[in-house]
Amino acid sequence: MDPRDAVAKARISYEQGELDEKLLSEDPFAQFELWMKAALEAGLREPNAMTLATVTSEGHPAARVVLLRGFDERGLCFYTNYDSAKGRELAATPYAALSFYWAELERQVRILGAVEHLPREESAAYFATRPRGHQLGAWASKQSEVVASREALEQALAAAEARFPDEVPLPPYWGGYRVLPTEFEYWQGDRTGCTIACAIAARVRRGCAND
Ligand SMILES: Cc1cc2nc3c(=O)[nH]c(=O)nc-3n(C[C@H](O)[C@H](O)[C@H](O)COP(=O)(O)O)c2cc1C
Repeated sequence: MDPRDAVAKARISYEQGELDEKLLSEDPFAQFELWMKAALEAGLREPNAMTLATVTSEGHPAARVVLLRGFDERGLCFYTNYDSAKGRELAATPYAALSFYWAELERQVRILGAVEHLPREESAAYFATRPRGHQLGAWASKQSEVVASREALEQALAAAEARFPDEVPLPPYWGGYRVLPTEFEYWQGDRTGCTIACAIAARVRRGCAND
């Protein structure tokens, strides 16, 4: 199989359903909860994986996958190293685009919004729930930098292990962000072959709340 040929020919028909605008909640945050619940209940692998796009210092987009670790009517949270490329990009331009793709459900959710740091206590509370290996990893690895060798990484991990024999504290450069959505788009594959994207502006709802 020639993958160049295969990608040009790959085609599926969307069979799962269609997007009925009338069935979409008027509250885009409630809609997100509904679709996330459906993705979780469908047993998808990592339904909380989302593509996060940021803006580089050259004004170019940069995207990578991160895991959604919390959401409510304020926004969507993820955790990372504040000194990573994405951290530096968000410090300079605190706006992001998010995209979830749930292939088995033939659904995509896209979100745009401003980004803020989570309060330190919130990051510390989440950090405390991480497995010890991940906590030590946050001390040992400098994200976005090329690791010299596996051996160097293992040495750094061993050093962190020796430094923190008991509780592992939150590294000063590690924590969470909250994306504050101003716009959501809900996309559902459609058996007619057309795809319908229904955009709902969260801004409207926020405006009402502030009136
Ligand atoms: C499924 C998956 C989940 C990931 N989750 C996270 C995450 O929650 N936080 C994070 O910092 N990086 C996560 N990563 C790694 C990032 O995609 C990325 O490689 C790393 O954060 C460095 O990105 P940057 O150099 O753009 O800052 C994940 C990668 C994958 C494939």
